[in-house]
Amino acid sequence: MKTKLSYSSVAETSAECIAVVALDHNTDKGKDAKPQAKLACTDKAVLGAADGVLLSGDVTAKPLETTLIHAPQGMKAKRLLIIGGGKAAKFSADDLRKIAGTAARFAKGKNLKSVAIAIPDGTSVSADAAVRAIVEGTFVGDFDPNYYASDRKDQRLHEVEVVAPASADKKPLEAALEIGRAFGEAQNFTRDLVNEPSNKMTPTIMGQRAKKMCEEVGLKCEVYGAEKLHELKMGSFWSVSQGSAEPPALIVMTYEPKGAPSSPVIGLVGKGITFDTGGISIKPADGMEKMKYDMAGGATMIGAMRAIAAVKPKVKVIGIVCAAENMPSGTAQKPGDVQFAMNGTAIEIINTDAEGRLVLADGLCYARQLGCTHLIDAATLTGACVVALGMVHAGLFSNDDEMVTRFQAAQKRAGERFWRLPLDEEYRDMIKSNIADIMNSGGRYGGAITAAKFLEEFVADKSWIHLDIAGVAWMEENKPWIAKGPSGIAVRTIIEFVESFN
Ligand code: BES
Ligand code: MN
Ligand code: ZN
Repeated sequence: MKTKLSYSSVAETSAECIAVVALDHNTDKGKDAKPQAKLACTDKAVLGAADGVLLSGDVTAKPLETTLIHAPQGMKAKRLLIIGGGKAAKFSADDLRKIAGTAARFAKGKNLKSVAIAIPDGTSVSADAAVRAIVEGTFVGDFDPNYYASDRKDQRLHEVEVVAPASADKKPLEAALEIGRAFGEAQNFTRDLVNEPSNKMTPTIMGQRAKKMCEEVGLKCEVYGAEKLHELKMGSFWSVSQGSAEPPALIVMTYEPKGAPSSPVIGLVGKGITFDTGGISIKPADGMEKMKYDMAGGATMIGAMRAIAAVKPKVKVIGIVCAAENMPSGTAQKPGDVQFAMNGTAIEIINTDAEGRLVLADGLCYARQLGCTHLIDAATLTGACVVALGMVHAGLFSNDDEMVTRFQAAQKRAGERFWRLPLDEEYRDMIKSNIADIMNSGGRYGGAITAAKFLEEFVADKSWIHLDIAGVAWMEENKPWIAKGPSGIAVRTIIEFVESFN
């Protein structure tokens, strides 16, 4: 999609559809309070064209309400789309991102190829933050998951135009446009990978996709197979792959800018299970098809690395994806088996379906060996996290309050939601093994936490955040601003987090 900034008046814009924001200026909280919808636009022609519909009371400005005016008088565009932004006093860049996504999806629904979105006037969102939110939101809204539908046409938007006030300072807006593009494209890159079915996204293919991306953006990338796993003594990671005809892939992407400090070095470790049958502890058939998205954590890290290469923070970042397919077979590992992780920890396999923590254990050890001081892992790790937090917040676990504070500031800027859960020592007792150091399952109770406790064994003294994205990596419902399917959660927050070290 082409992106364009224009400084002309909204009425002069020639996109097929031009979107403007309406805000509710009523500050009365009473339940009978009537909305006072006004356009966040000072253009006289636009105000004139929208006058009738605003007077009618049809526009309430409630969040993401859409009102279309055809052939608006005095305007070049054929369609003026008014999108609600909610209460004026609370309006944020996050609202604007969703408004842009809604405009994109609205335009696509009408088979239009270009959309213009006007930076709303008179809000507390700065012009550069607005440009960025609009571009990010449009890219995110442009994604459709129906890859293999035979009637899929060229359904992508060709152009988004951001209409800025003529008086705006152009340099920062142009920079914001590029950052917005990098973030939006990165999130969609992740969603692309996650959307693919497992026969089109094996560990090998995931490695190839990462490698190609890295070549395009100028990152170093190594993709290793089973031999390297043996050499590194990654017995835990390898055990997950041993039942599958598909070889595992250890993907290592490196971003190292000139003059990067020796600390921090950020390690991004992703779970890349390209299909999770459960292995010998096999899953029920109902819903098993969803387990193609069990590589979403890995895809998150690949997408994040893509954006990091574009926005060029001054800190070294290493992305590691542990990709494998979890299958039952004559060579598969069995409950009761004991496996040794890279750091020598002996793991008793209680349930072969608790495979994500097994691949991450070695991924985290390897990140430390490569010199990472700060670790973030992302994984569709537990059904228990979905039970705890539903499909709204992802789970967050950490051994470092300061790192959490920094991460929470990043998630706020990104408009993503993570909820911190505890890691008390009592939970460690639940995964004590009789035969080995640790068990890979602590049973049903507190399952998201015992999984995180398992991972904690492998981070040693490093600062670490674990993100359990099982409930939010795949969305079951369409939203006005984003299609159902892969969400690309955590990509934007992770980039924001990395950038915060600048
Ligand atoms: N990939 C699953 C977790 C999952 C569940 C992801 C639902 C997305 C949606 C993971 O590998 C798994 O099977 N976890 C088990 C762990 C248990 C056996 C200790 C689970 O949550 O049931
Ligand atoms: Mn599993
Ligand atoms: Zn899994």
